[in-house]
Formats: sequence, structure tokens, C-alpha cells
Amino acid sequence: MNFVFPLKDFKMTQSVAVDSVRSCAQALVKVIDRYELDLDAQKLREGLLTATRPLVERADLLSLGVKRQANHIDNSRYLFYDGQICLTLDEFPKDKQIPAHDHGIWEALVVCAGSLQHTVYQRVDDAQISGVARLEVVEDVVMVPGEITMVVPPGDIHSFKALSDQTYVITVVGGEYAPKRHYYNTSDNTYMVRTPKALKESGLL
Ligand SMILES: [Fe+2]
Repeated sequence: MNFVFPLKDFKMTQSVAVDSVRSCAQALVKVIDRYELDLDAQKLREGLLTATRPLVERADLLSLGVKRQANHIDNSRYLFYDGQICLTLDEFPKDKQIPAHDHGIWEALVVCAGSLQHTVYQRVDDAQISGVARLEVVEDVVMVPGEITMVVPPGDIHSFKALSDQTYVITVVGGEYAPKRHYYNTSDNTYMVRTPKALKESGLL
């Protein structure tokens, strides 16, 4: 027997608190949809910051989300994921250097607590020798809560390090990471191509 949901009890719209994860995700969808039309990275950056601000300001932010298998850290939580947008809350241990890497897709970091040294690189060699890459620093900043940074291909190489305990970041990614990514050793101008741990362990490859 079919169950018929009485229409009078069904509300077409539900009120959603402005600082809910859902309202943040809805705002992100709008911002990202616009970026896919105009490819204006500066507008995307500003829009991501505005969309995530209510979440960043939530007193219970650190209790939200579900555990995620991350690539470099132990404490990462999914706040939202729909296959096109991935929103995670990540804790970076103090002084742990995350090596220079690329993504194959844009990635934005919004600092929620603590402080983060963030470095963006560009590749300055001719990419003719496998395993060899020379990187040049194009930005090196210390980020504090409420600040955003973003890397967009082809300039999507970055490294970072938390400078204080309890450094938390909301990471926004506009799709799936590339299955093969480059991890750079800036001290000897080499790189390795690796499949991220999270993707390997997902069983999708
Ligand atoms: Fe990254």
C-alpha cells in the first residue's frame, strides 16, 4: 500500500538559520555557479569569504561535521559535500609543514582559529624533465581568523604550516581533486606524482 503524504502538512519551504551549514552551502552554490560563468577568481574569493563567514563565527563550529580521511592531517571533517562542492573543517597541527602540492582544481582556505603561514608558488622551469620542477614563491603570508586565500589552476601550488595550536581552517574545493597530484621538494627542485591517500583509500581507483 502506498503511503500518501498529506499535502496540507508539507511545507514547500523551510526556514533555515542564516548561520546553518545548509544556508552556507546554498550561498556557496550561488557563488560557485557564478564563477563557472564569469571565471572571475577575485569575485569567487570574496564570495566564498562572505558565504562562509556566518559559519566561521559560530561558537559551536568545531563540533560540526563528520570525519573525513584527509591527506596530510588526522582531524578533518566534512561539513558539506555534493560531488561538486566540498566543504571541510581541518585542524592543522602546529609546526607541521604541509609540502608544496597542486590540486588540479581550485581550493580556498578560510582561517577560523589560530594562524597559518601560507605560501603560493609558480613553476618557472620549462617542465621538460620528468621529476624536476623549479618553483618560485609568489606569495608568502601569515593568515589569521577571518582571512581567505585561494589557489586556482594553473597557479594552484601551495604549502602551509600552522603557527599556533588549534589552527582550524574551512577548506572549500570546487569539485574533485585530480587523481594524480604533484608533490614538490623545493629544496632540491624535484617532484613526485602521487595519488592522494584519501582517494586511494576510497577504493575508487
Ligand atoms: Fe592544498
